[in-house]
Amino acid sequence: MNDLNAIVESAQAAFAQAITPADLENAKALFLGKSGRITELMKGMAALTVDEKKSRGATINLAKQAIEAALTDRRQALADAEMQAQLRAEALDVTLPGRQSGQGGLHPVSLTMERIEAIFGSMGFDVAQGPEIESDWFNFTALNTPEDHPARSMHDTFYVEGGSETAPNLLRTHTSPMQIRYAVQHVKKYSSKANGGEGQGLFSGDMPEIRVIAPGRTYRVDSDATHSPMFHQCEGLWVGENVSFKDLKFVFTDFCRTFFESDDLVLRFRPSFFPFTEPSAEIDIQFQSGPLAGRWLEVAGSGQVHPNVIRNMGLDPEKFIGFAFGMGPDRLTMLRYGVNDLRLFFDGDVRFLSQF
Ligand code: DAH
Repeated sequence: MNDLNAIVESAQAAFAQAITPADLENAKALFLGKSGRITELMKGMAALTVDEKKSRGATINLAKQAIEAALTDRRQALADAEMQAQLRAEALDVTLPGRQSGQGGLHPVSLTMERIEAIFGSMGFDVAQGPEIESDWFNFTALNTPEDHPARSMHDTFYVEGGSETAPNLLRTHTSPMQIRYAVQHVKKYSSKANGGEGQGLFSGDMPEIRVIAPGRTYRVDSDATHSPMFHQCEGLWVGENVSFKDLKFVFTDFCRTFFESDDLVLRFRPSFFPFTEPSAEIDIQFQSGPLAGRWLEVAGSGQVHPNVIRNMGLDPEKFIGFAFGMGPDRLTMLRYGVNDLRLFFDGDVRFLSQF
């Protein structure tokens, strides 16, 4: 009996030491295998009497059962341990914050453009887009700025050879060419109806008023804290039979007060010169409160559209009159958000851009 207890104990100890299923199967072989210790004891019974065989056989069987039970327990323990290890390896921490896909946003100048479009849209203005690569006819000549006009030197830009009314040869220096492009299309639409498609000469029939803004990119040879070689402008044009400077003042004042959400904003129309308007005015604004209060800030050029420009639109200047303005959305954005360096808008630094 004692020898059997010792065998059972050493089997239990061997199984406990096994840390992999393979170790355990090797340990099992030492006791229950073909020449294992229990098997050897069974073989040793051949010489015993029948009675001795009975009692010895029964005790050996008990020991064998104890070893098998230990084996089963250890197998289960190893299987459980493996399962736990696997679960740990595949564990999901459901308390971790979700992975965020970086949310983009509109550029501050785009926000300004949308704001300008919404405000003028609410006043009945159409929004037009036009080419950034322009011909000097639309960019200068049609805007009453002939080839030898000194105003051209203030609009130095990127040129290629050639250029004609139809062949673009420069990067537009302002959005004003859109005045001509849009008006010509508008006039074509209504003069062909009125004249049965002939549309020769200047139009003096009936047509709905031209009321449009044209936002977009513009280019000049200029680069410092307040000038960038690429910048934005938004043109405005209102032409009809009875549109006056008073309308310009009303529309632009309303726009500025809405844009800056400031009802006591004051505007000043300061006499100036542009070849395509006569008279011309620079528009300055003044805040009555806030960090910029009391200073006059220039925001746009404007004026009554010059009769030569009205003619280049295909309209009879004896009948049609109107005003135009051109403003800088970059500058409006700087004023609205208190940004003091224009270059920040074009550096593409997310730390700056994510603030809007
Ligand atoms: N195109 C002018 C510029 O870039 C701005 C301007 C002035 C536009 C007067 C206008 C205007 O439409 O009437 O400096």
